[in-house]
Amino acid sequence: MKPIIDRFGRQLYDLRISVTQNCNLNCIYCHREGEIGSTQQTLSPAEIHKIIQIASEFGIHKVKITGGEPLLRNDILEIVSAISKVKGIEDISLVTNGLLLAEYAKDLKSVGLDRVNISMDTLDPQKFKQITGKDKLDKALEGIESARAVGLNPIKINTVLLKNINEEDVPELLSFSAEKGAILQLIELVSLGCELEKYRQLHTNIDVIEDYLRNLANKIAVRKMHKRRKYFLNNGSEVEIVRPMHNTEFCANCSRIRLTSDGKLKPCLYRCDNLVDIISPLRAGASDKVLKNLFLAAVDLREPFFKK
Ligand code: 5AD
Repeated sequence: MKPIIDRFGRQLYDLRISVTQNCNLNCIYCHREGEIGSTQQTLSPAEIHKIIQIASEFGIHKVKITGGEPLLRNDILEIVSAISKVKGIEDISLVTNGLLLAEYAKDLKSVGLDRVNISMDTLDPQKFKQITGKDKLDKALEGIESARAVGLNPIKINTVLLKNINEEDVPELLSFSAEKGAILQLIELVSLGCELEKYRQLHTNIDVIEDYLRNLANKIAVRKMHKRRKYFLNNGSEVEIVRPMHNTEFCANCSRIRLTSDGKLKPCLYRCDNLVDIISPLRAGASDKVLKNLFLAAVDLREPFFKK
């Protein structure tokens, strides 16, 4: 294993893989992990294993599985199991809307999943429906309970802040997360996946929320990843702030490379013009050396999207 550092001095240690574009919700703001167009091609567990093994040779030791909704893959247990068999992978997490988690939590844990991020923008059933298109808040809450029950720790709750929709829900989400022993991630809306006009309408300035948290905090820490700030509140809540927009610090401290649902290495969430196809060569029988060079080529294409 040799750690890899890109042209901008950023060490890579995490890979985010989309395993399907399908989803059982239809969130008004979804960035679809920066994928445009739709594709039915997905990667098999064996292919995912191979690509992650290549990445692990360069020091990737964290893998996040995302979608669409990853639990819609009927071979999701094989996928997690395949990833957990790669030497050097120390942390496997999965982002889910939670609807199917009650069904899968126990088995996911037993095949090697470490933890989950559960998307939850509100605790109000009506708003949940307004945001996601489905009246399924109860199912998502059930998902959180099952993750707790089987010890998928720590649970992170992903909340995308939406102007005039869920800003006022933050105090309730804070106490809810504290009660569940979960970390709340408050995420700034990214301008992908929705019309510019809609983005302008929904995007909210996180400064206001951060000021509010600063006043309640007894400790503030900064994570290495994206230099994200974490607030520790007196009621026991842990809150992480994710501010990706126009944030040069965020990009300067990005340690992530992505793999799209159709098998392309993606150097940046925001860009679709610099993908590196790794699945076609893999399917055509390329050697490890060729695959490693493709990985290196993708790393070489990495550059901060927001720069000073
Ligand atoms: N802006 C910010 N975060 C987003 N997510 C999805 N779309 C957006 C967006 N436009 C986040 C959600 C979800 C995760 C997969 O990505 O928090 O939990």
